Amino acid sequence: MSTLALNNVTYTYKNAQRPAVSDISCIFEEGHVYAIVGPSGSGKSTLLSLLAGLDLPTEGEVAFNGDSLAKLNLDRYRRESISMIFQAFHLFPLMTVIENVCFPMELCGVTPKDAKPRAAALLEGVGITKEQMGRFPSKLSGGERQRVAIARSLASNAKIILGDEPTGNLDGANTQNIIDILCSLAHDKGYCVIIVTHDMEVADAADVALKMRDGELRVI
Ligand SMILES: Nc1ncnc2c1ncn2[C@@H]1O[C@H](COP(=O)(O)OP(=O)(O)OP(=O)(O)O)[C@@H](O)[C@H]1O
Ligand SMILES: [Mg+2]
Repeated sequence: MSTLALNNVTYTYKNAQRPAVSDISCIFEEGHVYAIVGPSGSGKSTLLSLLAGLDLPTEGEVAFNGDSLAKLNLDRYRRESISMIFQAFHLFPLMTVIENVCFPMELCGVTPKDAKPRAAALLEGVGITKEQMGRFPSKLSGGERQRVAIARSLASNAKIILGDEPTGNLDGANTQNIIDILCSLAHDKGYCVIIVTHDMEVADAADVALKMRDGELRVI
């Protein structure tokens, strides 16, 4: 069973007066959806970067299946074990929508011929039309771009999904659809889904709701 554990993790940005993440210990397990809420500046995005191995803790460790990220090949960890939905979507502007979703599969060795139908199915699942799939991301609305970013994060085989406000630009119906997709990935397919959200509908649907305040994390 894959787990992501934080053991007394503290992270202080260079020249910062106080830590953005302060002595957090917590375990995230497969099969569950976790929601992290908390005020702006409380350290939520910083915590996700630590879980994604984009930064290493100043103190303590993040461990994937018992192995400290500090000792793992982080490029490989990020490519194979983690998929991220960022606060700003980070879609590739010079690739079409469908090419954006094919890209992570092709990075993992899937041929373009096999990647394309899978990408189309994932995009359809989040409500993107065939016609929109051929457009560049700049020709989509904010909410449509967000749904493409979600489909792209589902395209890799990574079992841990980290989302930073993944439903921040979506209306009620699309939010509910994304909640359903993420819950079913966790409950039926054993994914571990960790999402930062301001949306109480998302937090209520999660199996575990956590709150960050001044760099500290509490179960609510
Ligand atoms: N690159 C950086 N350098 C210095 N300080 C930073 C940096 N990024 C974030 N911080 C600070 O760290 C603290 C936590 O920031 P973080 O982005 O994790 O908050 P957040 O909870 O995600 O907020 P929001 O809800 O607004 O996205 C804040 O005080 C922020 O100003
Ligand atoms: Mg943030």
